[in-house]
Amino acid sequence: MTTITLVQGDITRQSADAIVNAANSSLLGGGGVDGAIHRRGGPAILEECRKLRASSYGKGLPTGQAVATTAGDLDARWVIHTVGPVWSASDDRSELLASCYRRSLEIADDLGARTVAFPAISTGIYGWPMDDGARIAVETVRGTVTAVEEVRFVLFDAQAYEAFAAQVG
Ligand code: AR6
Repeated sequence: MTTITLVQGDITRQSADAIVNAANSSLLGGGGVDGAIHRRGGPAILEECRKLRASSYGKGLPTGQAVATTAGDLDARWVIHTVGPVWSASDDRSELLASCYRRSLEIADDLGARTVAFPAISTGIYGWPMDDGARIAVETVRGTVTAVEEVRFVLFDAQAYEAFAAQVG
């Protein structure tokens, strides 16, 4: 049974087996959560990301997929990098966003992670409306069979926290 918990704060301050990064296909860093994770986690994360690009993901990690690296200096064993879809009003990319949560939990299961901290994927720079992003996140986690015991959504501000709280009920 997976318990969903909600926390308002900075995901890089969390202690968990795995912390999920809202990355981009390059895996080489960016702004938002991605920038914060690489800043606080240190260069070991980027080093592994570079190796992944050179070995398995020459063209980048596809949208909706996930891959794990060390967590470097973060208080976690792994960072699971996933690439959310950019929001589009004309193209329904919900399944790709759901895939980010599903694939991240599959990777967590492969690793043996029991606590996983997620940000609200795609709801920042990628522009996804928060209420819909929260709905997809919570529905997908609830619909995924996993050995992960705690899924913790770490929400940056009160508006994001309230959107997730409304979904969790
Ligand atoms: N802790 C928790 N949540 C955060 C933090 C933090 N430290 N920082 C931002 N958020 P974003 P995306 C929230 O932009 O939309 C990067 O450049 C933020 O308020 O990090 O998936 C990547 O390299 C928002 O609600 O990710 C990609 O190019 C949520 O986390 C692109 O941004 C996600 O915002 C990915 O965009």
